[in-house]
Amino acid sequence: MTTLHVDLGPRGYDIVVTSGTDAALADFIRRCCSATSALVVTDRVVRPHAEQVGELLRQQGLRTGLAVRPPGEEQKSLAVAAELYDALLDLPADRRTLVVAVGGGVIGDLAGFVAATYARGLDLLMVPTTLLAMVDSSVGGKVAVNHPRAKNLIGCFHQPRGVWIDLHTLRTLPDREYRSGLAEVVKYGVSLDADFFAWLESNAERILRRDPELLEHIVVRCCRLKADIVARDERDETGLRAVLNYGHTFAHAFETAAGYGRWLHGEAVAAGMVCASRLAERRGLIPSQLTERQRALLSRLGLPTAPEPWDRAVLLAAMRSDKKALAGKMRFILPRRLGEVALFDDVAAADVESVLAELQRTPAAAGHA
Ligand code: GLY
Repeated sequence: MTTLHVDLGPRGYDIVVTSGTDAALADFIRRCCSATSALVVTDRVVRPHAEQVGELLRQQGLRTGLAVRPPGEEQKSLAVAAELYDALLDLPADRRTLVVAVGGGVIGDLAGFVAATYARGLDLLMVPTTLLAMVDSSVGGKVAVNHPRAKNLIGCFHQPRGVWIDLHTLRTLPDREYRSGLAEVVKYGVSLDADFFAWLESNAERILRRDPELLEHIVVRCCRLKADIVARDERDETGLRAVLNYGHTFAHAFETAAGYGRWLHGEAVAAGMVCASRLAERRGLIPSQLTERQRALLSRLGLPTAPEPWDRAVLLAAMRSDKKALAGKMRFILPRRLGEVALFDDVAAADVESVLAELQRTPAAAGHA
């Protein structure tokens, strides 16, 4: 078991990385908060795991409710959030109710948004069950639902009281979901840690086989990198936390253009990183070999490396509505070298369009999933 701390003073919390959810989770919850009741929010796919978590809470004397949603990005809506408010009222919830998110990024974002907004904020515990949620979305307090025209637009910051990562849940994660998480893992390498990127290149086959030792290394490394960034720029204000959004301006536009749920988030991030890297090449920031290294690793990991032929006017409109846009200007995170990226707000729409057009013509863009 490895414990990492997110150093946010009074809002600080621990991330536990372990294998096998057991009584230690109940102790962890007791240390994190003083809840007397809990609403466990999950999706149908991981319902048995959520029921196990609920049972541990009941053994600790907590009154519990279970809200089970269908899987999929479409769940991240205000309408579904309203249904969860009803579930909290039915519990009935009070100020000592804990919301427990057991699932992937969708459940974490949705349940986190509900916890942040119900009765001006309830305690939240993240129990991520997908690689993507373990390495990224469950840490750092960004919670949101989607607007039909822009992803994650309706949201806020609401730090969890703790994050409990059970690597055993990765054993049954569908391949496509697993690979989607690997895109965020690659993102950490390109944005923050060149050695980690090279390690991923050297171990791609063992990573695809889900070697438990490697998985632990990956999850701990990514959580450490993220915890350090979040501790220094919790509310995404100084440009530091923005580095975690490498590939995401393109990715959010791809997810919106495809229709929420058709491309998984990590798949869109993979293609988005290649686009951002090409954009960096056009500015003379990096040589083409760096884009090629990313493209090669992402395709070995079974991820898309180019967008589908979506209407570029639609993509550009989505990028202008992106949360990162400021004063109508699109903002992109671009690599300067392997392990270092920076925020740029002076990218010309014509350059973005050229990169999209070029990549949409590659064989990798022929269609996906
Ligand atoms: N996923 C980006 C962030 O948490 O800031």
